[in-house]
Amino acid sequence: MGLSVKRIVFFTLVTAYLFYTSFVYTEGTITEYPITGDAIEGRQLFRDKNCIACHQLYGLGGYMGPDLTNVMSIKGEVYVRAFLENGTQKMPDFSLEEKEVKNLIAYLTYVDSTSLYPTRNFELTWYGTVNSNPIKK
Ligand code: HEC
Repeated sequence: MGLSVKRIVFFTLVTAYLFYTSFVYTEGTITEYPITGDAIEGRQLFRDKNCIACHQLYGLGGYMGPDLTNVMSIKGEVYVRAFLENGTQKMPDFSLEEKEVKNLIAYLTYVDSTSLYPTRNFELTWYGTVNSNPIKK
């Protein structure tokens, strides 16, 4: 191969690499999930009470209690409310006020709408990443 052919191959590959990288690290991975209303206060409460010490969101956190990413759609509000209002032998009762319970439920509903954990029914996009809006089933 002559020097100029090598150069053409080299610069084509570099250009393709730069294009793909800039796409995947910008447009390819940006998804907006605006958090609004009660969920904002719920998120603050979730941090203040350190729920993450025992629970996981999106698979990250403590392992004493279960993952809470999809607890709202899997178990439902009545079930979640019972834990928040009373605690159990293993989970502390935080003596939450009604407004605080509502805010936490709003936050968990928001988290539920943003993802699935563990990732199920995922699809690969044409450019090689996992679709961040997987089909909920
Ligand atoms: C000291 C550890 C601990 C902390 C802190 C804690 N939890 Fe829990 N939680 C648990 C355990 C353990 C369970 C499972 C309890 C059981 O089955 O008796 C649980 C269960 C739950 C459940 C039911 C989940 C399911 O799938 O069955 C919800 C909802 C929940 N916790 C929410 C919260 C929220 C919100 C907070 C913060 C306000 C919180 N927890 C703080 C330990 C904790």
